[in-house]
Formats: sequence, structure tokens, C-alpha cells
Amino acid sequence: MDLILGIESSCDETAAAVVADGRQTLSNIVASQIKAHAPYGGVVPELAAREHLKAIAPVARQALEKTGVGIGDIAAIAVTNGPGLIPALLVGLNFARGAAVANKLPLIGVNHFLAHIYSVFLDDGFEILRASDVYPLLALVVSGGHTALTLVDADRKARIVGETIDDASGEALDKAAKLLGLGYPGGPVIERVAKNGDPKRYHFPRSLTAHSGKPLDERNRFNFSFSGVKTALLYHVKSLGGAEKLVDDLLNDTVASYQQAVVDVLVSKALDAMKFFSVKSIVLCGGVAQNTLLRETLRAQVPGHVRYLVSPRAYCADNAAMVAGLAWHAFRGGTNDGPLLDAYSRLPEITEVPFG
Ligand code: KG4
Ligand code: ZN
Repeated sequence: MDLILGIESSCDETAAAVVADGRQTLSNIVASQIKAHAPYGGVVPELAAREHLKAIAPVARQALEKTGVGIGDIAAIAVTNGPGLIPALLVGLNFARGAAVANKLPLIGVNHFLAHIYSVFLDDGFEILRASDVYPLLALVVSGGHTALTLVDADRKARIVGETIDDASGEALDKAAKLLGLGYPGGPVIERVAKNGDPKRYHFPRSLTAHSGKPLDERNRFNFSFSGVKTALLYHVKSLGGAEKLVDDLLNDTVASYQQAVVDVLVSKALDAMKFFSVKSIVLCGGVAQNTLLRETLRAQVPGHVRYLVSPRAYCADNAAMVAGLAWHAFRGGTNDGPLLDAYSRLPEITEVPFG
């Protein structure tokens, strides 16, 4: 059995996990920095780095202790080395590098975006990875940093077929919550407030869809844009006399209508791409995938012949189990990125995945 210790620090969660053979999560520790960033209405990179520095060693120690193993039982150390906030990534990378060198272990760099996709294959999901009717697979990754559709073929070849041309869907929710004075992060509070509202009361734009009112450029068929819905919200709030005037039903209905617009875009793009690429399964993952309206709307509309693989809630937000799980595939293939492994901020071109 190969035990991999995973480390994650790309944004505002310090996480460590031990995963056996790419599938069985033995521990999954996450220390959230939400409280530290909340007063600023978003993640402050230098503050994130400082918080990671405080948390990383205790979190990694806890991950080992919970598993009941020592570092001597670990086969390799996996670390998210991008994409993400560089000051934040460097804390996890330096820690992982030190642990790998000190214990003479292989060090494996993991792409955070692909790790989100891999989250559906942990635990019980692992068997699905080997099923013959999984590919082509389409992954809708929705988080604070990303909103993209990735196509994965049976031969592990992969490519991004659509992505946001401006804000990510999670960012659209976070910025809306900030504008409305609802706090940070936006996703959970928007979901809560929307529960009491009428999602049909106000119309917010569904940009780059057939319902946007403009003919859709074929090049943007699978791309996303959330800056329009954000601007529409700003004008809506102004027209009602400012955020402080939005209370009770006005607020609830605004938030419900806004959330509906974001979810409608995500679901309609995913459905269109599923049909266009004749996929056999659809993955929904990333922090925004915790949203019940999104999970259930997509579930209700996925055609019967397509497998719906939705990330378990515990693995939607940033965590290190997905990092350790994905790294096992590279480890098994003999990968050792070594201590010169570097961090990068932007999503590189995706051409293949290490699993499958
Ligand atoms: O994957 P994640 O933890 O971090 C990134 O890699 O970005 O995603 C964070 C995003 C935030 O934008 C947050 O507002 C959103 O996930 N989020 C949600 C919910 N919980 C968190 N969005 C919608 N509904 C939720 N319940
Ligand atoms: Zn993430």
C-alpha cells in the first residue's frame, strides 16, 4: 500500500491529508482562513501566506496522527504547486520540499485544477475511474479561481473546451455578496439568503448563452462570462437606492434571482457541451459545487445515459485528499519532481490527465 501525504495551500485553506493508493482517504485536515480574510471581503495573498505558515506544520502533523502513521510510513509527498496565489503556494511547497528532502522521499507537484476533478474518484468513486463507460468525460470545475469545462478521453488526453473570459463563478458570488454587504465568502451566504427568495422576481443576464438576447459567437459557445451579471446587479442595487435599502423580500428575491442566473449559465453550458462531445459522464467539482441548487439542477437535467459524478461535499472546497489521491498516479508512474519543483500562478494548457 502506498501512502501519500498531500499538502495544499494554493488559496485560503491550509490542508494536509494521507491517502492510500490514490483512493482511500485516511485523514483529511483543513484549516480555513475565512475569519482572517473576512474583514477584507476577499483573500489577501500575503495574509494567506502568513496564516499558512502558522498552520502548515500542525495541520500536517494532525493528518499523520489521525492516520496513526509516522513520516517513515509515507511513500511520497504531494504538494499543490499551481495554479494559485504564489505567496500562498510557496508556503506549502517549501514545507513539502523540506519534508521530502529530510526524509528522502519523492516530491510530486500537483495541478490544483486537475486535483479538483480527481475529487470524484476518491473513496467509493475509485471504481468508476476504471469503468469502461466513463469516457469521454466532461468536467465542470467551478470555484473561486476557475470556471471551465474540461474534456477527458479514455487515452487520458484532455483539453479545456470552455472557460470563463472574465470572472469565475465563485468570484461572481463573492463579489455579489460583497456588494450587498453580506460578507465573505459569498457562496454559502448567497445560498442561505436565496432560500427565502423568489428566483423569478428579477431577471439577471445569462451572458454568452442563447438567452442573453444577443446572437452567440460560436467561439464562445462553451465559454463563460460573469462580469455582465455582476454589473447588472450593481445597477439593480443602485436603482433600488443602494445596498442598505435591500432588506427582507427585496434582498431575498434579488439574491435568489442572481444565484439562479449563475446556476442557469453553468447548467446550460454543461448540457450543451455534454451533447456536443457525446460524453459518457459529467463531473461537477470545486467550491461552488457545494451549491445545492447547482447540484440538483444539473442532476435533474443530465440525460439518463450519462453518469453524473458530483464531488462529495467534503471534497468540493480546497483540500489535500484530492492532491494526495491524484499524485499517486504520478508516483506509480515513477514521477519525482525533486526539490527544484517550482510554483506557478496561472492554469497551464491542459493536454492530458495522470489518471484513467
Ligand atoms: O474550490 P474553492 O474552495 O477555492 C478555489 O480554488 O477557488 O472555492 C471557493 C469558492 C468561493 O468563491 C465560494 O464563495 C464558493 O466556492 N462557495 C460556494 C458555496 N460554498 C463555497 N458557492 C456556492 N454555493 C456554496 N454553498
Ligand atoms: Zn480550489
